[in-house]
Amino acid sequence: MKVLVATEKPFAKVAVDGICKEIEAAGYELALLEKYTDKAQLLDAVKDANAIIIRSDIIDAEVLDAAKELKIVVRAGAGYDNVDLAAATAHNVCVMNTPGQNSNAVAELALGMMVYAVRNFYNGTSGTELMGKKLGIHAYGNVGRNVARVAKGFGMEVYAYDAFCPKEVIEKDGVKALDSAEELYKTCQVVSLHIPATAETKNSINYALLKDMPKGAMLVNTARKEVINEVELIKLMEDRADFKYITDIMPVANSEFAEKFAGRYFSTPKKMGAQTAEANINAGIAAAEQIVAFLKDGCEKFRVNK
Ligand code: 3PG
Repeated sequence: MKVLVATEKPFAKVAVDGICKEIEAAGYELALLEKYTDKAQLLDAVKDANAIIIRSDIIDAEVLDAAKELKIVVRAGAGYDNVDLAAATAHNVCVMNTPGQNSNAVAELALGMMVYAVRNFYNGTSGTELMGKKLGIHAYGNVGRNVARVAKGFGMEVYAYDAFCPKEVIEKDGVKALDSAEELYKTCQVVSLHIPATAETKNSINYALLKDMPKGAMLVNTARKEVINEVELIKLMEDRADFKYITDIMPVANSEFAEKFAGRYFSTPKKMGAQTAEANINAGIAAAEQIVAFLKDGCEKFRVNK
């Protein structure tokens, strides 16, 4: 059996070593395609792979067509919007993610970016503090929970809204659960996004939702760029000189944001939330273990396609 690690944005070496150990201990062979720049390289590498470990790498029908021997794809991470699930099912390929494995890393980055922004990007001028500010967590999954834990350490007042998570689950963490996204954005000066990119959420963070955020509002995005309605966010930031947008996923309109909103806009050059040795080890090794359990015992825990 051949397991391919196909990562345009590579794991830390220590994580690759850990994955290799798992795969070889199971008697399988490991192949590595890192930092590829062309889809043709991926199409070539998948030809004889029985299993693939990916990150945000795109697995579409063309890749699945090329991967004639493929049985399983594991997205080492949480969001699997980069995989065409229907095409995978049609090709009889199991798709899994590794929920929770990189969530602390993303949460730490979210809080780090908040500090960076309220301290005026460390430009030497006097900033503000997070303590006492109301933080709204939009979706209370694995990352949202970790953001709540860390934010409480900063002395923030933490609120959350999640359409699918029962209020009791949120409130047992000492977080105030609100009834709607509208209420969350009206209440909180800082909102941290942790929703997946789905047909329902794409473009959902729009002018109507953001316009009622309290004065000195800041939106922090460590989720997906697709959930933002960029045209409406630009309009809102033109109308509200107090509004900051801080993101770990570079918007399509990055240069427009950067030109128009200097001092209240920041984007990382490449998504960095899960880019720690710890997160890479956790997610990469979990992916390798899930592949071995699937190939040896048919275990389908964490399967995300039907
Ligand atoms: C995830 O969905 O797990 C995160 O967005 C991290 O993505 P990455 O593996 O591409 O850094």
